[in-house]
Amino acid sequence: MYIMLTNKHTHRTSPMKHALTLSALCLLGLSGVKAQDADMLSQSRSISQSMLKELGQKLQTAMADGGAVNAIGVCNTQAPDIAGRVSSQHQVKLSRVGTRARNPVMGVPNDWQAKALAQFEAALARGDKPADMEFSETVTQADGGKEFHFAKPIVLQPMCVACHGGTEQISPEVKAKLSELYPLDKAVNYQPGQLRGAVVLSRKAP
Ligand code: HEC
Repeated sequence: MYIMLTNKHTHRTSPMKHALTLSALCLLGLSGVKAQDADMLSQSRSISQSMLKELGQKLQTAMADGGAVNAIGVCNTQAPDIAGRVSSQHQVKLSRVGTRARNPVMGVPNDWQAKALAQFEAALARGDKPADMEFSETVTQADGGKEFHFAKPIVLQPMCVACHGGTEQISPEVKAKLSELYPLDKAVNYQPGQLRGAVVLSRKAP
């Protein structure tokens, strides 16, 4: 009886930790910004998180069903599809960029996104946890309009090396398919824990 209770208690520590991380994030993000900015920030946060979650689930399912060769389609067509759908649904521009891009159009960071990636690299080198990192800024453009930018880091996990790892980790079938689809591919030779890129979102700001 006691053992069961103890077990239950142990399991409860993980959501608690998550809640603490979240509230730390909120404090960080909310200090000194206007209410409108806070709204845009929390919306960007949840849009980015749900895109990553949906993509991660689809990728995992496809990998389990037919391995990495099968899963390339998820990244190749579904990732841009999900980003496109969510973008028009929320009237934002959502995509993923890489520190070394595979997709030469969508995956290459613009100046602001490159700045965000540099901040994430520096934070990782300091030992900060990727889950606690995000970067956002409202930028005034040349025409006087304002644009809100948001970025959340994407760090390589062990399952990703089948398509983003070293030569010995990517099967010949996957290599062949990748070089057919992405002749300019730079997104290889990553190790788990390294910064792979970021989810990036931008939208008009009031
Ligand atoms: C089955 C192969 C495969 C696996 C596994 C895979 N990726 Fe990719 N990844 C791709 C492909 C293909 C693209 C290009 C997608 C496109 O055209 O937009 C890509 C693109 C990306 C991009 C966008 C930037 C760029 O380089 O174009 C990020 C970020 C990314 N992957 C992260 C990850 C992470 C993190 C994991 C592990 C959780 C992962 N990938 C697992 C195949 C894969």
